[in-house]
Amino acid sequence: MTKNAKLQAWIKEIADMCEPDQIHYCDGSQDEYNTLANLMVEKGAAERLNPDKRPDSLHFRSDPSDVARVEGRTYISSKSQDDAGPTNNWEDPAKLKDTMKALYKGCMKGRTMYVIPFSMGPVGSPISKIGVELTDSPYVVCNMHIMTRVGTRVLDELGENGEFVPCLHSIGAPLAPGQTDKPWPCAPIEEKYISHFPEENLIWSYGSGYGGNALLGKKCFALRIASNMARKEGWMAEHMLILRLISPEGKKYHIAAAFPSACGKTNLAMMEPTIDGWKAECIGDDIAWMKVGSDGRLYAINPEAGFFGVGPGTSYHSNPMAMETIKKNCIFTNCVVTEEGDIWWEGMDTPTPEKATDWKGNPWNGKTSKETGAHPNARFTAPAGQCPVIADDWEDPKGVPIDIFIFGGRRSTVVPLVYESFNWNHGVFMGSIAASETTAANIGAVGNLRWDPFAMLPFCGYHMGDYIQHWVDMGEKLGSKAPKIFYVNWFRKDSNGKFMWPGYGENSRVLKWMCERVSGKAQAVETAIGYMPKADDLDLSGLNIADGNMKELLTIDKKAWSEEVPKIKEHLDRFEPKLPEAIKEQLAGLKNRLQG
Ligand code: GTP
Ligand code: SPV
Ligand code: MN
Repeated sequence: MTKNAKLQAWIKEIADMCEPDQIHYCDGSQDEYNTLANLMVEKGAAERLNPDKRPDSLHFRSDPSDVARVEGRTYISSKSQDDAGPTNNWEDPAKLKDTMKALYKGCMKGRTMYVIPFSMGPVGSPISKIGVELTDSPYVVCNMHIMTRVGTRVLDELGENGEFVPCLHSIGAPLAPGQTDKPWPCAPIEEKYISHFPEENLIWSYGSGYGGNALLGKKCFALRIASNMARKEGWMAEHMLILRLISPEGKKYHIAAAFPSACGKTNLAMMEPTIDGWKAECIGDDIAWMKVGSDGRLYAINPEAGFFGVGPGTSYHSNPMAMETIKKNCIFTNCVVTEEGDIWWEGMDTPTPEKATDWKGNPWNGKTSKETGAHPNARFTAPAGQCPVIADDWEDPKGVPIDIFIFGGRRSTVVPLVYESFNWNHGVFMGSIAASETTAANIGAVGNLRWDPFAMLPFCGYHMGDYIQHWVDMGEKLGSKAPKIFYVNWFRKDSNGKFMWPGYGENSRVLKWMCERVSGKAQAVETAIGYMPKADDLDLSGLNIADGNMKELLTIDKKAWSEEVPKIKEHLDRFEPKLPEAIKEQLAGLKNRLQG
């Protein structure tokens, strides 16, 4: 129970509306986790993996309609539509609440409502914030245990008068007396709503049990609501990994990188450099909260406590540190389960199983089946502390000072391996025109090119024009202490459709160049789009890559870029009349340089 009167009143109001059979107050203990895990295994919602292969780990199969975030059903419900901007779905708050209240009425019948007090960021840190999620999903409770700091210690921190972000979640599947439950109950797509009320710092989610739709501390709170708070309070909430790179001389560089969903943040966050003497440490893999410190530099914390990572493609070859992190105490969703009771997915470097069960629960033979065994957005939920390269001080409430910002995305053509901005506003312009081929992390078509400014398109909780202005303002505040800004593309393909750059640990070669740019040691040439290294400026020792490929990775195709300019203009024009003057000047500059 809690002494916080506001929280008590809210719990009562929601219980009256949703009518759960009982209420459970989460204490965050291991006992609580184990009890819920056993309950889900008994009910057939989860499968316990073979303890000899994957100790204390569970596997879940979601409903095939509930496998990723649903951007089409995600709303920013500010009072004025103008505050949500052209890139967010908007609905009038009163109207949306009426619609959702009708759905919420009695929606937890036959179920338990769990009260999850959680802290985003270390409990008690001045940068941290508290949320309380009410949910009827025990799967959500167990995932929140891993992804955030949950329980009594958070209620203690909240005290009688503390502020919290109310996060209401229901899977939207009440049970009639005697009705048997489904393994993954949820509501049909047209009844799903992931709603944010930024003026009240309030989140209402209905109908989905998956990932960012349901673990409300993550995208809903730590990005959509927090981006609003950050704008008002003068800090930043970004879709960024946080990485520390240490040079052979022991100099530390802190990097925060924004790539769209399923474009390589977790991989880069846990990378093992392939170049001599350089070391990397992970601080976060998805979200960064950043504030200006007393020394004027920008300090970042990871508000999360776990990784909710993409399975397919993760292997000892691509991301060995992730493979080590997920050895035990994990939750897996929508993977292949092997005959031995372990999980598997496409791209894992163990033999393709021939007798297994696919993510839909059907018998599956990886050698003969035409369909993939794991869903492309299959995920692991793993405690961050289990990562062998997690920084010792990853929970330091002060955070780490950021030297380098990176933007990027998946582009098979046009965009080179790396370039550096001329200055802060040019870097903001680079972030504003980030684009990527779409992935399975969102329900929708995969592989289409879409603009994804700052990798925040699905996560910015207000008008994108105001958001870009906030970046410009932060640059003014940071002045000469602002991080340097770069853009990367690990995903350039040759005419046979093969990746031209080896990626993963080899990306350290590009990061090293960035660090040396920061310390003034590395060379670059000025091009129309920014500063770029020549092949000689990159440490390519021991790397076997065709000269032709390297040349293409580091060349600007002026014709292709010129063809992008009108598209860039069309993209940015959507943010008028809120597009900052500084960004328009940058576009004009790019156009001029391409013509020159
Ligand atoms: P979210 O959790 O959705 O935000 O994704 P993320 O940005 O953390 O992406 P993640 O690191 O999980 O990578 C997603 C996919 O990209 C995986 O299939 C990776 O194997 C692949 N990938 C990551 N880094 C590289 C790289 O450097 N090169 C290539 N070719 N593929 C990569
Ligand atoms: C993303 O899509 O960027 C994720 C996964 O990190 S989810 O939590 O589902 O949003
Ligand atoms: Mn993400």
